[in-house]
Amino acid sequence: MLSSKILIVDDNASFLELFRTLPGADQFNLLFSTSAEEAWNVLRSKAVDLIICDVRLPGMSGTDLFNKVQDELPEIPFILITAFGSTEDAIEAVKKGAFHYFEKPLTNRLDLFWATVREALAKRNALKELNILREERHARNQAFSSFIGRSPAIEAVKKAVSQVAEVSITVLIEGETGTGKELVARAIHELSPRCDKPFFAVNCSEFSSGVLESELFGHEKGAFTGAVAVKKGLFELADQGTLLLDEISESPAYLQPKLLRVLESGAFKRVGGSCTLGSDFRIVAATNKDLKEEVASGRFRKDLFYRLNVFVIHIPPLRERKQDIPLIAEHYLKRFARSFHRPAETFSENAMLTLMAYDWPGNVRELVNVIERAVITCTGSLITTRQLHVESPSQQTLSDLNLKNMERFYIELALKRSGNNKTKAAEILGISRKTLIEKVKRYEEEL
Ligand SMILES: Nc1ncnc2c1ncn2[C@@H]1O[C@H](COP(=O)(O)OP(=O)(O)OP(=O)(O)O)[C@@H](O)[C@H]1O
Ligand SMILES: [Mg+2]
Repeated sequence: MLSSKILIVDDNASFLELFRTLPGADQFNLLFSTSAEEAWNVLRSKAVDLIICDVRLPGMSGTDLFNKVQDELPEIPFILITAFGSTEDAIEAVKKGAFHYFEKPLTNRLDLFWATVREALAKRNALKELNILREERHARNQAFSSFIGRSPAIEAVKKAVSQVAEVSITVLIEGETGTGKELVARAIHELSPRCDKPFFAVNCSEFSSGVLESELFGHEKGAFTGAVAVKKGLFELADQGTLLLDEISESPAYLQPKLLRVLESGAFKRVGGSCTLGSDFRIVAATNKDLKEEVASGRFRKDLFYRLNVFVIHIPPLRERKQDIPLIAEHYLKRFARSFHRPAETFSENAMLTLMAYDWPGNVRELVNVIERAVITCTGSLITTRQLHVESPSQQTLSDLNLKNMERFYIELALKRSGNNKTKAAEILGISRKTLIEKVKRYEEEL
């Protein structure tokens, strides 16, 4: 409790002096003010945990100060001290939410007084913790607000992100192109204690190997032709922050042992430098290739793989979590309509069916691009298949759309996907094999 700050307000300097010497007072960090006005100034500049204030003060009274605190800083508990004749006002304040009141002289009931002070501080700490929790929850919602999806797979990704964000371990994110690996890496950073420090991303396939090395490690002046000045690398710049090594499988073979060393020790040298530097970065690596296969084929170092493979988050392709398609499509429809001032409001049933039926090899990125183009070209409120530039799953079913046709369309699609395996198709559709066979038979009879 020594770190708890208590502000004591009394116009009587000898009372303040006495307070300082009260047995038990040395357990707290005490601040003193001789008027309510002065106390208010202190409250505006310092984080105080408890106010102990005389009721009778020249100028602004103790109860006036209580009312002001109650309005503007209601999380700080307030204890009033009364002398003969001011008890009524104190009782009134307690009814309005003051923590307690005590009559002078305090020395009469000192044990009870300190017990009350401790109780008030405990309440304050509980409130503080609650606020921290609220802020954390808010930050979490913010970080996930752009990460759309309610499929079990996406819920699992969100859970893993929340679990791993707080601890500074290396995270490996796996997923096909466009599945949201960078989005997840940013969410990890946003939810981590490093969130107010920088986030950097580097794509290991984007640079020629020498350039990548100097991007990552920096270089000294004159290290190579063209190195006209010292350049700090990303490991150095990401000190206390997060660095995303994207497409890590593409890092050149000669650089991989260097990467391993810096990941293990946090120590490195700039290109052309002799001085060892240190940095406290957090690494998130991303890959759209199966790193195990890369190791097996000798393209990726095993030891670096083990160093990266500490905590893996796998983002499944969009075709394996199709229930996320409508949510993502509608989210981006609204977003693009707003930013381009277009009239598009919703999708026609056919259009949604087309989006659902497509396999999205480019995953969410491809879906986002298709929606963007549709919103731009759409002149009314409804987006139809005409604005969707994706392969149409089956022309005939889209023309005559009623529930029966939709059912039939899905059954055909499920059979096609499962390679005509009825058990699998029934599983995809969430019906029994028997029901599926009956339905197929009925369709065949209708022909
Ligand atoms: N779950 C999602 N909700 C909303 N938008 C998403 C989601 N997943 C991905 N996106 C969006 O899709 C686009 C691609 O995402 P991102 O760049 O994170 O993918 P990536 O896996 O890093 O792709 P690449 O392998 O090609 O680098 C971005 O515009 C991103 O905002
Ligand atoms: Mg990416």
